[in-house]
Amino acid sequence: MKVAVSYLSSDDYLKCINKINNSDADYIHADLCDGKYVENKNFTMGLLSKIFGAAQKKLHVHLMCVDPLKYVDMIASYNVSTIIFHLDATKDVNKVIDYISSMGIRVGIALNPDDDIDILAPYLKKIDEVLFLTVTPGRGGQPFQEKVLDKVDKFNEIKKDYQIETIIDGGVNDSTISLLVDKDIDIIVSGSYVTSGEDYNERIETLKKGSLL
Ligand code: DX5
Ligand code: ZN
Repeated sequence: MKVAVSYLSSDDYLKCINKINNSDADYIHADLCDGKYVENKNFTMGLLSKIFGAAQKKLHVHLMCVDPLKYVDMIASYNVSTIIFHLDATKDVNKVIDYISSMGIRVGIALNPDDDIDILAPYLKKIDEVLFLTVTPGRGGQPFQEKVLDKVDKFNEIKKDYQIETIIDGGVNDSTISLLVDKDIDIIVSGSYVTSGEDYNERIETLKKGSLL
């Protein structure tokens, strides 16, 4: 299981990115909140160029933004492995998928806790990752919604016929990790649990081992 660390809950994004750079995290999970798809807004283009420019690990960009297509060119100029967007944030899902893929970037679709997995069906052949949000989108530090795990189990049956990675995002910490260890999950995202600690590696290691050290 790989670990992606989100800077969303930190007070100083740049400082946090630098700490993630120097940690054993596998990816930097970049949450972009536009103030439309979700209530809060957490970026300007100027800020993004600073923090993305400072990233020394591959970025997983999670767009909680209306009209995801308009961000793709800008994001593609950085060290990014995946762009993840929400299906209900665009009228033309296929166009967004095809454009991201054409840039040589992996495509992820994010499901909110109440989204049904059936909405993925038309896109399964074209996507690389599915991100299950286990919290309401837009904020770090919320409690893990266990009900999402039934959907993850169902999806993991379906995905056997495809090359798709499963990501869990939201409320993952040293206690909720135990709900995830025996599931077929490729990447977990952790924000506040890792970034509220002084030693990121100790917390990342705890997540990777799946239990308290
Ligand atoms: C929720 C975000 C998550 C979140 C994770 O809107 O997509 O990535 O920041 O943070 P924690 O781990 O604090 O829930
Ligand atoms: Zn996220």
